Amino acid sequence: MKTAMARPVTSFICQECGATHKKWAGRCDACGAWNTVVEEAPLSQGPGRGLGAAKGKTVPLTPLSTLEPPPPRTSSGLVEFDRVLGGGLVPGSAILVGGDPGIGKSTLLLQAASALARQGSHAIYISGEEASAQVRMRAHRLGLAEAPVRLGAETALRDILTTLDAEQPDLAVIDSIQTLWSDTVEAAPGSVSQVRASAHELVTFAKKRGVAIIIVGHVTKDGQIAGPRVVEHMVDTVLYFEGERGHQFRILRAVKNRFGPADEIGVFEMTGGGLAEVANPSALFLSERGQPSPGSAVFAGIEGTRPVLTEIQALVAPSTLASPRRTVVGLDSGRVSTILAVLEARCGIPFAGLDVFLNVAGGMRVNEPAADLAIAAALLSAREDSALPADCVTFGEISLSGALRPVAQAENRLKEAQKLGFSQAIIPASQKIEGAGGMRLDRITDLTSFVGEIFGAG
Ligand code: TYD
Ligand code: MG
Repeated sequence: MKTAMARPVTSFICQECGATHKKWAGRCDACGAWNTVVEEAPLSQGPGRGLGAAKGKTVPLTPLSTLEPPPPRTSSGLVEFDRVLGGGLVPGSAILVGGDPGIGKSTLLLQAASALARQGSHAIYISGEEASAQVRMRAHRLGLAEAPVRLGAETALRDILTTLDAEQPDLAVIDSIQTLWSDTVEAAPGSVSQVRASAHELVTFAKKRGVAIIIVGHVTKDGQIAGPRVVEHMVDTVLYFEGERGHQFRILRAVKNRFGPADEIGVFEMTGGGLAEVANPSALFLSERGQPSPGSAVFAGIEGTRPVLTEIQALVAPSTLASPRRTVVGLDSGRVSTILAVLEARCGIPFAGLDVFLNVAGGMRVNEPAADLAIAAALLSAREDSALPADCVTFGEISLSGALRPVAQAENRLKEAQKLGFSQAIIPASQKIEGAGGMRLDRITDLTSFVGEIFGAG
């Protein structure tokens, strides 16, 4: 066996993707980004690394069949927040909350920590971005001044961990990971190695002491938590706080959850008095819908375990550009391109020479393939300048041949639509339904027959 090298080797790490290089390079081989490779000192190495250097202790092993009770959970007091976590906070879990700067992460977590503290739990909020006075002022504005949350303003990780160790809280919020500074790494706060080392120490601490730790992470322009993806792999739960700046709706989405279902969402509304929970998101997302107008289609979707209706809006207009615009907000643009291609190739409806704008009303994001038919309906409705019936929802996946495929949880979608006053649904013919609950079903086999039936064109 080789002996370990004595001199600690510095490494060159891409700040974009976290890839490690032997020497500096202008361009990262792994992700192709320019000027992102930075020299960083290695993690401090404990005495004797490698096999045989130091005796480790044996790890206790258990059989697979050991019956573990489900993890105990502490309700945070915010129903929507608990829902996204899968039923409440799990002690000893590490949660990453990511989102654009200014979207409301600090507000949300201050509210959650306060709600938890009011129920008698011990909650600590450490801010590395704002002074305690600033956080207190915010708490005043939110009407939370009386909540027994303990505040701290600190960026030195060692001091934070020492404090947490002494306090033994149920919940610690760390706002944000990009401001933390760990003395085991010689790199600037916010750099990949600092973020990685700090996250690692926090996660280890959470596990060891049974403290639930929520780590705030800012998101870069291209939608990733600043710092490498490794942070997402380290924590138990990754939540994204999303929303459009101009809209008051905010969506907390679980993208990874070791203790609950991923894809679950919680819906909030940003008000003057902080974030208000929205118990019935469908009603909120459809509240701005006026008279039936061309280009609007209501999609009966499912987010996690909950049905959510959203309005998909399209605008199709003659283009003066050589390559017409395809502006898509809140939907997968690849998916939209596919649907445009299917409409063109299978139904003979060209979109060449036309600008296409698509978005989901209210700043919601829809990722389900089940939204295909609603997207096609909105596009066709806009192009033909003919409105769909006002009391109609739709869902269904479109295949490349133009055929319609059934989707999951059709009954739940229909039930929610009926609850909100819709009376008919356009769905795939192959969709099996056990009880439409009084909804009138318009079953269609493929996109061409849909075009003929609804718009009388073809
Ligand atoms: P903040 O929680 O500081 O965002 P983040 O921590 O994600 O950077 O939220 C800041 C925004 O929220 C700011 O633009 C003002 C708005 N806001 C309200 O509209 N109402 C409120 O009660 C509060 C506290 C903030
Ligand atoms: Mg903040």
